[in-house]
Amino acid sequence: MADKVKISPAQGKLGILLPGLGAVSTTFIAGVLLARKNLLVPVGSITQMQTIRLGKRSEERNPLIRDAVPLANLSDLEFAAWDIFPDNAYESAMKAGVLTPEHLNLVKDELEKIKPMSAVFDKNYIKNINGPNVKSGASKLEFAAQVREDIRRFKREKNLSRMVAVWCASTETYTEPKPVHSSLASFKKGLAENSPDISPSMIYAYAALMEGVPYANGAPHLTLDIPALAELARAKGVPIAGKDFKTGQTLVKTAIAPMLKSRMLGVRGWFSTNILGNRDGLVLDDAGSFKSKEMSKKSSLDYIFQPKTYPNLYGEMYHKVRIEYYPPKGDDKEGWDNIDIFGWLGYPMQIKINFLCKDSILAAPIVLDLALFMDLAQRAGMRGTQEWLSFYFKAPMHADSVYPEHDLSIQHMKLKNTLRYLMGEAPITHLGLEYYNYWGDKTQ
Ligand SMILES: NC(=O)c1ccc[n+]([C@@H]2O[C@H](COP(=O)([O-])OP(=O)(O)OC[C@H]3O[C@@H](n4cnc5c(N)ncnc54)[C@H](O)[C@@H]3O)[C@@H](O)[C@H]2O)c1
Repeated sequence: MADKVKISPAQGKLGILLPGLGAVSTTFIAGVLLARKNLLVPVGSITQMQTIRLGKRSEERNPLIRDAVPLANLSDLEFAAWDIFPDNAYESAMKAGVLTPEHLNLVKDELEKIKPMSAVFDKNYIKNINGPNVKSGASKLEFAAQVREDIRRFKREKNLSRMVAVWCASTETYTEPKPVHSSLASFKKGLAENSPDISPSMIYAYAALMEGVPYANGAPHLTLDIPALAELARAKGVPIAGKDFKTGQTLVKTAIAPMLKSRMLGVRGWFSTNILGNRDGLVLDDAGSFKSKEMSKKSSLDYIFQPKTYPNLYGEMYHKVRIEYYPPKGDDKEGWDNIDIFGWLGYPMQIKINFLCKDSILAAPIVLDLALFMDLAQRAGMRGTQEWLSFYFKAPMHADSVYPEHDLSIQHMKLKNTLRYLMGEAPITHLGLEYYNYWGDKTQ
């Protein structure tokens, strides 16, 4: 059994900072408010609903995760957000149209009090929207200072003991790491000199980390995955995680692909397309933002199928991902997958999936779980990339020395074994030899 890791208790209030107060953020906040009044059930949240097996199957120790692990309580959560639009959380949620007015009205007073702080915004990074609620300043360093002051004010005003930040704002355009990102020193210089390669999301992340606040990236663009911010997270002893919430099509993909591979069934092609009509869809209608999403969505299959190891099963696979903005759909995304597979002696077969999902309904519990687990990680003294939270991401961040783990069930096992480790419980290998007397009386 592992030595129990020292975890400071979840005393006092936990503040959740959200860049972006759109569909996902408001569905998340309203959901927490409704759940803590016991009005609705937080379905989809591992921290609130799932049990964890401790010890052998025969021991029958299966507590709820939130009872076994010292997580912040829903009643101790406070919320703050930044957005380029001035709508409060109630107005924004009504416009997003995910939750019904009937449900939103049950927590209207609390939602109306959440007014977005002015945003750091740069039209070069997000093309298809523009709003008035933005900061002004002479340099990116000044923007970072303003965000840091927002964070400190939130902590003071709500009398918080801890905070976490989860990016729920729009997807920025696709970019790759540049020299300015290569070290903390060059990044700071870039902030002062207004480097065009420093995006708004990097400014929020920098400000959060400087304030000792863990940061998770829910979108696919480049933010934390640059050496400068990794260095800052380690130096400040802060957990980071990302990127891109794994909600709909990729969730399905990373469950189906391991099934095909585990049975050694081949794949000739996988065509995934989505139609969606919310503001996220509008932003993704721009080629730059779409490329960020496309790269993130495409990465999983290569790692799961290992085409170099299995060239005759997956070496020729054609993988295509499309996202189409179609306003009548609103937040009700429709995803189609056509999978051309082959079996015994190469005989072809097909799988067709039509997932009619609600994007923000799938994302909201992820925001909650990430916030609570990132806070746990910080109280347990874990700093830098939290790969054990890969379960929640389409393009999981990972150590340089290893490839990312995309298989949903492996990610799930990794998450639970990490929780067991933190609690000083033995990891579960599922070997189970002790229940069978395979070798007669000979001991192993
Ligand atoms: N819902 C899902 O299933 C899902 C899955 C994976 C990732 N995501 C990502 O989560 C993010 C949020 O999705 P959503 O559906 O809530 O989108 P949304 O458009 O409803 O909300 C995003 C909000 O961010 C604001 N914003 C844009 N730039 C900003 C900035 N620089 N600072 C502060 N606010 C800014 C926008 O005004 C908008 O209100 C998107 O990046 C999306 O790609 C969502």
